[in-house]
Amino acid sequence: MIEYDGAHRAFILTGKRFSYIMFVNRAGFLQTVHYGMPADGDGYLFSDRYAGNKSPDPNDFNVDAQQDGMPCEYACFGHGDYRAPSAVIIGGDGFRASRFVYKSHKIYKGSPSVDGMPHIRRGGETLAITLADELSTAEIKLNYTVFDDSDVLVRNAEIRNAGKTAVDLARAYSFCTEFADADFSIMRLAGRWAAERTPITTEIDYGTVRIESARGASSHQMNPFAALIRRHTTETAGECYGFNLLYSGSFAILAEKSQYGMLRVQGGINDFDFGWKLNGGETFVTPQAALCYSRCGLGEMSREYADFFRNYIIDPKKVNAHRPIVLNNWEATYFDFDTNKLFGIIDEAANLGVDTFVLDDGWFGRRDDDKSSLGDWFVNTEKLRGGLKAVSEKCKSVGLKFGLWLEPEMISEDSELFRAHPDYAMTKSGVTPCRSRNQLVLDFTRKEVVDHIFNVVKSVLESCRIDYVKWDFNRCLTEFYSASLPCDRQGEVAHRYMLGVYDLADRLTGAFPHIFFEGCAGGGGRFDGGMLYYFPQIWTSDDTDAYERTKIQWGTSMCYPVSAMSCHVSACPNHQTQRMTPFATRGVIASLGATGYELDPTALTDEEKAAVRAQVSDYLDIEDIVLGGDLYRLCDPFTDNYFCEMLVSKDKSRAYIVGERHRGVPCDLDNVVKLVGLDRNGTYKIHELGITASGKTLEAIGVLLPRLPDYGGFRWVLEKIN
Ligand code: GLA
Repeated sequence: MIEYDGAHRAFILTGKRFSYIMFVNRAGFLQTVHYGMPADGDGYLFSDRYAGNKSPDPNDFNVDAQQDGMPCEYACFGHGDYRAPSAVIIGGDGFRASRFVYKSHKIYKGSPSVDGMPHIRRGGETLAITLADELSTAEIKLNYTVFDDSDVLVRNAEIRNAGKTAVDLARAYSFCTEFADADFSIMRLAGRWAAERTPITTEIDYGTVRIESARGASSHQMNPFAALIRRHTTETAGECYGFNLLYSGSFAILAEKSQYGMLRVQGGINDFDFGWKLNGGETFVTPQAALCYSRCGLGEMSREYADFFRNYIIDPKKVNAHRPIVLNNWEATYFDFDTNKLFGIIDEAANLGVDTFVLDDGWFGRRDDDKSSLGDWFVNTEKLRGGLKAVSEKCKSVGLKFGLWLEPEMISEDSELFRAHPDYAMTKSGVTPCRSRNQLVLDFTRKEVVDHIFNVVKSVLESCRIDYVKWDFNRCLTEFYSASLPCDRQGEVAHRYMLGVYDLADRLTGAFPHIFFEGCAGGGGRFDGGMLYYFPQIWTSDDTDAYERTKIQWGTSMCYPVSAMSCHVSACPNHQTQRMTPFATRGVIASLGATGYELDPTALTDEEKAAVRAQVSDYLDIEDIVLGGDLYRLCDPFTDNYFCEMLVSKDKSRAYIVGERHRGVPCDLDNVVKLVGLDRNGTYKIHELGITASGKTLEAIGVLLPRLPDYGGFRWVLEKIN
């Protein structure tokens, strides 16, 4: 619900369990009053007595203690506010100061259009407030969308040049909000290849915490997410706020504690190496940001984000439908395969009960290693006799669907594409390009490059029956230069690149609605809310080790649904860590997401084959809970010797618990897990333990965790019997 109090020029936004309140102060600035637990927009909040000391006198240009203490909904530059601004707008004369004052507003059902970028698909109610910059020709429209059934508030900003001469944007964030105190710690999801999204929490103090990627991708190293956490907040209690950008490129989220002890949080496209020329009449639209408030701990925030993504961002036709249970040949063969070998794998995969065979890297051009052929999206018929059609038909003949790996954004220098169009690579003539995995990035800022890739990929996808695509992205950008842009527009490259990627993703998913697309970026290097708009699931990490995965999946679940995580069982010793873990543990950990296999089925023992068949059938029994259920994180693998998570169906009639004991240690007799999240008044049966107990008891007292050998895993299915 969105209310406007005309007498006070105040806006009161109400989501499921939060309020967001702001008003236009006497100087015309839009000022944050409250974000958090439900409150009313009582008049005194907007009076001089309450807000006066933070609300500047319009006629007083003594900036001391005026602007620098004002809580801003979109912060200005060069007007006495010495904290970071939300936008920097440079006029033709080089003047950069701004003064964003209220001009008008509109309240409407639905959400703003964010052409060419990921966005809310349906529903909501939106407040659009237009601010005029008194010092330039820019106008800023701030969009706020709330939902009756969600604790998420979606925001973004649109900057329009209402004048005739161009202005330059040096920063254009999506949102800014302020808190009256800074008594928070801040969590970010940090990592690296094969170790993505580790939650790292540090105290907020004076100065700025800057969470960012400048890699042209949201990145393995830092997810485009941050959470503010109150001192005593836990998984199950206390306040926290999430800030999650629906964006897959370079980003920044800033949390700045000011001299007065207040906290400003803002973010959007990374302003490092960013610039955008805005000609007269043009508008720059910033990516949407999903803010989330929870009074019931981190767990509730995660469940709200999971519902938000499932209800409003991910393709509704795919989100709750059965996911392909794939067997992927990458770790089975790497580049070393031919039709015979694949057919052997396919036959065995069909026997195991999986439903999709995915042919990974190496099927095209002359690609026998990672040095060549990216961009040459035509089949290598020396390797694959009969082409992709033969593989697809083989799959069909044994009842499997067929999936294919692609890396559409890349080009190898040793490729026909590069020989014909060296200019398609994002390089600068005369400068030795930075290679990564021996490859270069295509210049997706250029429409003709995106069009070319669309056409060649389209022909591949039309060449035979293909049911699934794994869209990979194995290196980040380096030179950030496009030969097609003038020198004063090179700062636009990173964002224009992202717009090119979104355009291609939109066109391909639109042209092939029957194909299931999975995102991937050297594992989980682009696991973000932007990609989830196009791809219902993403390859979580190249690290499939069943111990490391407990941590990676735990961190990822902070702000994404488990159904978005693609999780595979792989061979041991694990290819990334060399660790040995039991086959059963690998199976249960991989069942906490879109499950599948990443191994050579012909190399499995009979016992392992039987285990796969059982795992697939067990998974199908609980798949609906994995896709649609609520997640409760019970034992933290970063601090406990156990990992344990529980998924509860929305009606609380069933639950699915998965756990792992990391190491055998002596004398740990009383490790209890409390099953928070069940119906307290219901009675549940835990099949595997032979226990029948009330939800109340299971939550208050809990059950003993099993004493398992190193890396032993377990799964329990709970059913409500009355
Ligand atoms: C990336 C992916 C892997 C695999 C390889 C193929 O690393 O994350 O799963 O597809 O590329 O080159």
